[in-house]
Amino acid sequence: MFLIFFFAPLTVAAAQNALPNDFTRCQQRDNKINECLKRAVPDALRRMKDGIPQLSVPPLEPLLVSGMNIESGAGPVLITQIYKAIKIHGLTDSILTSYKADLKHYRLRTDSITPKMEFIADYVMKGRILVLPIQGKGVANITMVNLVVKHDLIGEPVVRDGQTYMHIKDYRVKFVPDKVHLHFSNLFNGDKRLGDQMNIFLNENSDLVFNELKESYEKSLSSVFQDVTNKIFDKVPMNKIFPEEQ
Ligand SMILES: *[C@@H]1O[C@H](CO)[C@@H](O)[C@H](O)[C@H]1NC(C)=O
Repeated sequence: MFLIFFFAPLTVAAAQNALPNDFTRCQQRDNKINECLKRAVPDALRRMKDGIPQLSVPPLEPLLVSGMNIESGAGPVLITQIYKAIKIHGLTDSILTSYKADLKHYRLRTDSITPKMEFIADYVMKGRILVLPIQGKGVANITMVNLVVKHDLIGEPVVRDGQTYMHIKDYRVKFVPDKVHLHFSNLFNGDKRLGDQMNIFLNENSDLVFNELKESYEKSLSSVFQDVTNKIFDKVPMNKIFPEEQ
């Protein structure tokens, strides 16, 4: 299971939580567990478009993230960016191309492809790209087409009330988009000519711009993915996510 869920109440520690009944379970000892998860996880994501009320999981389509700060410190792209009220669209259309579950070592690795991931947010930024100064405050649209995401989830067992939970202590992601479209409204205090030129420039150099910012995006989004995964993994015992017997 990668990325799931938000803002679950922490008040129900004693209650036994379970995955919704319509989620496919993959048996821990099934030697085809990877094949099973490859189908089960995207299927679960699609069922979570509108959230899961009984687990206090809010809608994933779009996924709301309150904020993200990015400092790109070196190289040709030197920008400070603050994003607020972030909406991420398209994650629930992801498919998985591979899954490697090593439950003995609490490790899950999977590659996903998201046909179109739109990141829409209020932004404030200031800095420079190559030799050009850039600054603005408005709405950002960063759209990644055919985005391959490599997920590496490193977990550890946490025992509570006699139940083992698979807490994810580290969630690493790598983004490999086929194409990135960038649009920032209201650059240069609304100077339309400069703003249009900068948006054209950004898109002509989107590989460079994205590569310089990629690590910051990966870091920010991996912590979002980690949080949402742990909202479920910390609440539903491991043997209810990956049952041990038929
Ligand atoms: C964001 O940009 C993409 C690609 O240019 C476009 O298809 C999409 O409609 C835009 N979304 C919004 C909300 O403006």
